[in-house]
Amino acid sequence: MSEKLALVTGASRGIGKACAMELAKAGYDIIINYVGNAEAAEKTVQEIKALGVDSAAYKFDVSNKEEVDKSIAEIIEKYGRIDVLVNNAGITRDGLFMRMSEENWNAVINTNLSSAFFVSQPVVKIMMKQRSGAIVNMASVVGVSGNAGQANYSAAKAGLIGLTKTLAKELGSRGIRVNAVAPGFINTDMTKDLDTSKFTDFIPLKRLGEPEDIAKAVKFLAVDAEYVTGQVLEVDGGLII
Ligand code: NAI
Repeated sequence: MSEKLALVTGASRGIGKACAMELAKAGYDIIINYVGNAEAAEKTVQEIKALGVDSAAYKFDVSNKEEVDKSIAEIIEKYGRIDVLVNNAGITRDGLFMRMSEENWNAVINTNLSSAFFVSQPVVKIMMKQRSGAIVNMASVVGVSGNAGQANYSAAKAGLIGLTKTLAKELGSRGIRVNAVAPGFINTDMTKDLDTSKFTDFIPLKRLGEPEDIAKAVKFLAVDAEYVTGQVLEVDGGLII
C-alpha cells in the first residue's frame, strides 16, 4: 500500500477511469466510485492494481447524500486519509430551455453540482485534519461559455466553477488546493451520439480530446501544481479561446 490515496468519482469508464489510471501511475492508491456497472468497475480496479498500487471500488450514487456519507465514512475508516479527490461523475440531459422538464433540470444539477457538495464536505473534513489535500472538479467549457441546448448542464458546470473558487479561498490556509478542469469535446460515451466531425473545424488543434488528455491535466493540478489554487484549466484543443 502507498501512503497517498486518491478518490475519483464516476471512474469505471471514460475520463474518470483515465484520471484514476494517471494518478495510479503517480503512485497513489486509488478508490474508484461507480453507480451502475460493477463489472466495469472491477475491471478498472484490476487495471489499476496492475500498475502496482492498491485499488478498490465503492458503489454509491454521488447525488444521494446518505449514500455518499456512508461510503466516505467507510473509506476513511479503512484507509485513514484521502489526499486527492476528483469530482468527475456527471450526466447530460440536453434539450432547449423552453422545453426542459423540471426532472431533467434537477437530475443534471444534482448529479453534476450537488454531488460535489455532498462528496467534498466529508472529504474536506479529513483533509483539514491532515492539513493537506487537493480537489479537482470536472467542469466543462460550456460552464465558461454556455451552450444552446444545455441550460441545466452549463448551469451545473458554471456552479462547479464557483464552488471551486470559493473552496480555494476558504481552504487555502488549511493546505488544501481546489481547482477545476474544463474539458472541451472528449471522445467518451458521453459524446458518442454527437456528430463531432463538424466540431473539429472549430478546434484549433483539429481533433477531439481523449480521456488521457484530461487525465494529464487533472494529475498536474492535483499533484504537481503546488502553488496553484482556484483555477479553471481549459483542456479543449483551443475550442473557446
Ligand atoms: P461518461 O458518461 O463516460 O462518464 C461519466 C461517469 O459518471 C460514468 O461512469 C457514470 O456511471 C458516472 N455517473 C453518472 N452518474 C453518477 C452518479 N449519480 N453517481 C456516481 N457516478 C455517476 O462520460 P465522461 O465524458 O467520461 O464524463 C466525465 C466527466 O467529464 C463528466 O462530469 C462530464 O460532464 C465531464 N465532461 C465531459 C466532456 C466530454 O466531451 N466527454 C466534456 C466536458 C466535461
